[in-house]
Amino acid sequence: VLTVPCDMLVFGGTGDLALHKLLPALYHLHRDGRLAAQTRILALARQPLSRADYQSLAERRCRAQVARADFDTATWQSFAERLDYFAMDVSQSADFGRLAKRLDSHERVQVYYLATAPDLFEDIAAHLATAGLAGPLSRIVLEKPIGHSLDSAKAINAAIGAVFDESRVFRIDHYLGKETVQNLMALRFANALFEPIWRAGHIDHVQISVCETLGVENRGAYYDRSGAMRDMLQNHLLQLLCLVAMEAPVRFDAEAVRDEKLKVLQALKPIHGLDVQDTTVRGQYVAGKIGGQEVPAYYFEKNVDNDSDTETFVALHAEIDNWRWAGVPFYLRTGKRLAKKSSEIVIQFKPVPHRLFNGGEANCLLIRLQPEERISLQLMAKAPGKGMRLEPVELDLNLAQAFQQKRRWDAYERLLLDVIEGDSTLFMRRDEVEAAWSWIDPILRGWHEYYQSPRPYPAGSSGPEQAHGLLERHGRAWHE
Ligand code: BG6
Repeated sequence: VLTVPCDMLVFGGTGDLALHKLLPALYHLHRDGRLAAQTRILALARQPLSRADYQSLAERRCRAQVARADFDTATWQSFAERLDYFAMDVSQSADFGRLAKRLDSHERVQVYYLATAPDLFEDIAAHLATAGLAGPLSRIVLEKPIGHSLDSAKAINAAIGAVFDESRVFRIDHYLGKETVQNLMALRFANALFEPIWRAGHIDHVQISVCETLGVENRGAYYDRSGAMRDMLQNHLLQLLCLVAMEAPVRFDAEAVRDEKLKVLQALKPIHGLDVQDTTVRGQYVAGKIGGQEVPAYYFEKNVDNDSDTETFVALHAEIDNWRWAGVPFYLRTGKRLAKKSSEIVIQFKPVPHRLFNGGEANCLLIRLQPEERISLQLMAKAPGKGMRLEPVELDLNLAQAFQQKRRWDAYERLLLDVIEGDSTLFMRRDEVEAAWSWIDPILRGWHEYYQSPRPYPAGSSGPEQAHGLLERHGRAWHE
């Protein structure tokens, strides 16, 4: 049980993120006794709702989101006692004055969670300061993407930095809250086995894939301005790449871990101008079938432009120019409306230097984030019987089974607790976000300058053919 009571203020309280992710995560934390008794949650949005209206909206959405076995009415009622609603317009500074009056105690930690569009971040921070709400006990949580380019990210960071010092800014990337992602650090830095071969001499290439079956759901307006590059690759995939590629930090604390991740981002080989044609592939889904159901083309989705050229898929070949990784391709891909949901990291080792047997494949380490949390190492073994016939077998570690986990923690549960406790190890630092944009911006520019319009791929497929070509031309293939 936490000793620090806090006020958790959720801006964008009626939005999908709040209702779909944040409240269910807070409900679980409450149910597991991890929130201090006096902790309160205040949802903020424009709609004129009463407290009771909001509670019933939240209950409906949480019921749909939380597993049936975990939801019970008595627990919900005790959770709802913490939950309140305040109608306000974040563009009106007077509304922040009203909010300040409403928050009676300044002795408590105040967490401002900005589950809103990034173009509101700067105004909200400024208004919080003017209303005297940005005291030393307050923290601010920003959802990705931070801006849509390097310049806009810098502007947001500067505006936030003028009000909150860096130790009180939590830039969330929920991939860092996933158990397997943290397990990647445990695997690398708590086992002597992997680190000596975790480098160019032994690794042929790395694949990082985050494939979704979902389309853009109700988020067409946001997504059409972002696309897969800004929505997923700039943050989630680059964070995964950092954890795979970084050097061992000297300590497991926020600064040491983030210093090492930053070095990886700074070492990414720039992709600019015409390079985009050989090293990147954009795609956009057209009509197809997901799980036997017909689904429309992206440009027919709600709030999406009919002649949109936003990418819903991106694949690229990245390289890291440093001693450990020079020459090792990192193939990254992510997309919506693909055949199946799966997020994984594949470390493909080089073949043995001298072959004693016929056949045999190189070792491969698979780190699965979704749908199941699994780490498996593909080894070669002799098939039973006469002769020396080799077959790949798997050393398979199912993390949920190994720890006999009853329920998988959602990433937001872990991250919200970290915010309340003030631990920013699993959050992106300002310079990290800016380094990621510095690498992404020229690619976006290259796409624009060289008219690289997205290649169509049918919903329910494995993405555009050109994404396969990206690896095939080097004699490799995506792990399926
Ligand atoms: C979000 C993106 O950050 O991550 C969404 O904005 C995406 O477009 C989601 O669907 C994927 O998260 P997860 O945890 O389901 O892999």
